[in-house]
Amino acid sequence: MHLKSLELLQFKNHEKTQLQFSSEINCFVGLNGSGKTNVLDGIHYLSLTKSAVQSSDSLNVQHEKDFFAIKGQFELAEEKQLEVRCTVELGKKKQIYQNGKALAKTSEHVGLIPLVLIAPDDTELIKGGSDGRRKFFDGLISQLDHAYLDQLIRYHHFLKQRNALLKKFAETGRRDLTLLDKYDLELIDLSIILSARRNELLRVMAPLLQSHYSEISQGQELVSVIYETEALREDFAGYFKSLRKKDLITKNSNAGIHKDDFGFMIGEHPIRKIGSQGQQKSYIIALKLAQFQIFEMEKGEKPILLLDDIFDKLDDLRIAQLMKLISQHTFGQLFLTDARPERSKKILSELDSDVFFFSIKEGVIGKIES
Ligand SMILES: Nc1ncnc2c1ncn2[C@@H]1O[C@H](COP(=O)(O)OP(=O)(O)OP(=O)(O)O)[C@@H](O)[C@H]1O
Ligand SMILES: [Mg+2]
Repeated sequence: MHLKSLELLQFKNHEKTQLQFSSEINCFVGLNGSGKTNVLDGIHYLSLTKSAVQSSDSLNVQHEKDFFAIKGQFELAEEKQLEVRCTVELGKKKQIYQNGKALAKTSEHVGLIPLVLIAPDDTELIKGGSDGRRKFFDGLISQLDHAYLDQLIRYHHFLKQRNALLKKFAETGRRDLTLLDKYDLELIDLSIILSARRNELLRVMAPLLQSHYSEISQGQELVSVIYETEALREDFAGYFKSLRKKDLITKNSNAGIHKDDFGFMIGEHPIRKIGSQGQQKSYIIALKLAQFQIFEMEKGEKPILLLDDIFDKLDDLRIAQLMKLISQHTFGQLFLTDARPERSKKILSELDSDVFFFSIKEGVIGKIES
């Protein structure tokens, strides 16, 4: 599977950008702020129906405009063609079209175009709060498993309702506990199902993470992800209910998979606390390569890989390891960005792959070389 062409209309600083791609390597070069990451983000929309950088769709509409549109032509297995279009109009619902047909729910599209992104601020996954880690793993499993995404959406719906109810109790001083019981049951059931799936993913991922880490860092350390959840406890329902008093006081739900975390470990210790910068970067890349491999194993095809600013953030050893993987054709179609054209040209021209270079200036594509 690969993306043959892309059109960005009024998407961030791209007024109108039309591109034809190599099925192997595509490299965007240009100054800081020229619009390189925005192109990758457009591709991200076509796979995951949302931005990787901006959680609000409307902020991606070009200033002073009232909509954006992104269109991509994909070639799937057996030369099947798929046109994906995503439109966001201010004040309206986001729409996804497959071959011109609007989908009832944008989430139906997730998983059809598997995609892995490696970006500069990825170490936030390590340093930031648990929310980012849950989003990462949820995004990963959602691309593999539709039922998971549907159940996760249901979970968040019930959680919102339950929290609103707890607030209403506090405001009105009246408590309808049977309604609360109903939400409890839903959240307990879904937590048990979703945590089992998260746990299963980590089991599959563990050996892949280790082998990629060892390869990239050339190090001996053991690395792992520890799943921190209450939902796998045998008496989870009892645990959930035991927190009701606290829930009523805090007006919040204190148990459930929205409280889960994932401990990124090096040896016995959290890498956040003891890992060097280099170890943290290797860990993140290993995690993303493990994601790539899982998609490839489970979907039977290589996902699209986006590498944003990768040369800036990695040292020579890690770049060399990554280029070795590229030259061994480990990856399928690759999109990367670099603010320093000479560097990426030098590194990529040493590969025997078909490479297209796009130079970008203020959201306009200039010279294209291959
Ligand atoms: N809604 C919007 N309307 C117009 N321009 C926008 C909008 N959102 C972001 N931009 C512009 O997009 C530009 C940033 O683009 P992008 O992040 O793709 O840069 P980049 O080429 O990746 O830069 P760097 O090398 O620094 O990573 C900024 O100039 C920003 O002002
Ligand atoms: Mg960028």
